[in-house]
Amino acid sequence: MAPRTMPVEPYRIKVVEAIHKTTRRERESILRRAGYNVFNILAEKVTIDLLTDSGTSAMSDNQWAGMMVGDESYAGARSFYTMERSVRNIFGFKHVIPTHQGRAAERVLFGTILKKGDFVPNNIHFDTTRGNIEFIGAEAVDLAGRAAYDCRSILPFKGDMDTGKLEEFIRDKGRNKIPLVMLTITNNSGGGQPVSLANIRRVSRICRAHKIPFFFDACRFAENAYFIKHREKGYSRKSALAIARKVFSYADGATMSAKKDALVNIGGFITLNDDALAERLKNLLIISEGFPTYGGLAGRDLEAIARGLEEVLDEDYLEHRIRQVAYLGDLLDEAGVPIFKPVGGHAVYLLADEFLPHIPRHRYPGWALTVALYRESGVRAVEIGGVMFGRKGEDGKERFPELELVRLAIPRRLYTVSHLNYVAEALAHLYKNRNKVRGMKIVHQAPQLRHFTVRMKEV
Ligand SMILES: Cc1ncc(COP(=O)(O)O)c(C=O)c1O
Repeated sequence: MAPRTMPVEPYRIKVVEAIHKTTRRERESILRRAGYNVFNILAEKVTIDLLTDSGTSAMSDNQWAGMMVGDESYAGARSFYTMERSVRNIFGFKHVIPTHQGRAAERVLFGTILKKGDFVPNNIHFDTTRGNIEFIGAEAVDLAGRAAYDCRSILPFKGDMDTGKLEEFIRDKGRNKIPLVMLTITNNSGGGQPVSLANIRRVSRICRAHKIPFFFDACRFAENAYFIKHREKGYSRKSALAIARKVFSYADGATMSAKKDALVNIGGFITLNDDALAERLKNLLIISEGFPTYGGLAGRDLEAIARGLEEVLDEDYLEHRIRQVAYLGDLLDEAGVPIFKPVGGHAVYLLADEFLPHIPRHRYPGWALTVALYRESGVRAVEIGGVMFGRKGEDGKERFPELELVRLAIPRRLYTVSHLNYVAEALAHLYKNRNKVRGMKIVHQAPQLRHFTVRMKEV
């Protein structure tokens, strides 16, 4: 467990943004109008917004300065080459293909190499990777080890893939049905847990033996590198940059949502070595995202990504970042609030089944918790459970994911210790009064990624 004292913020505040407070009564009517879906709440009606760490980072003065010198040319913009250099310096792959965000990178990659009936193994797919794979009619397969679903035991690398299962899966389906294998670092849908270099090496060996391309979903690669440095034998003296380079040296490419560990508000990319595949990706990119030297982004966004990728590997930044998240986890743990342990890299995950044991899975305890937390305190969190990942089985009955979580994602460089104290106090209070929280019923839902637009009712 991380020490309660926090390292001093390795930055000071140059610009501030007002937070507007709301009353409980206001929040009650806001929830009603939002169909009890916190995605439908106006951001200005949120006191502390822990919905996501994606695209919510505070950019540095250096990044803002970079935006002023962004080259907005359609083709051959200087900013693209700056960004390309920065990505290559860390990831080490030959081609860098910008996209407007991570899911666009996924769509372009999967849209090019997947067909109906294919399979894509991963430790645990994030909802957009799963959505993009399923949209094509392929299957997203989660092969994380058992530890990924064990919320209690303190293990260093719960994001690891079960490589025995991977080998069995490849034998069973045949390599022709598996156009790529992915690893998500850190494993967002499994508690933000890191993946070890030892596991990465094993997955890489298996993929190479079967000639299957191996890609990272690399949104939080710097946070993953921090965990390797501090938890895996032999890396404590290596820099985060050296570790990241080593990680990527085992793969054939990566998709990246720059909205996380590139410390920007928008952007993404695909990076890979395969010349022929890169050409095919660029063809699809031109139709849907843009010319390959901007890929749906402005030149200024490319500049901000280039600088963000350098800043995120700063060791003081990373130490503060990881310890800030652990600090919130420690406060909640001390208050008896059930959380996923150990705390991951970008978020604290509440165990909704244990928090609200009186609410059965088909009444969506995780969702109910996000509603109750907003009503209580104006804090916005996100359900990563039955609404996000629930699926109808062939018998028409709903199948629920193994874990019913609520994620408190901490935006990078945005909130201070007192903000986190407020969140911890609100949750401790809610936990004491948990019997009053009611379950939920779905009133309206979309066929894909239903959590974004679903409308609910309390029952
Ligand atoms: C692991 C993972 N992959 C992919 C994505 C998709 O990225 P974006 O939101 O930029 O489309 C996310 C976003 O949260 C993510 O956490």
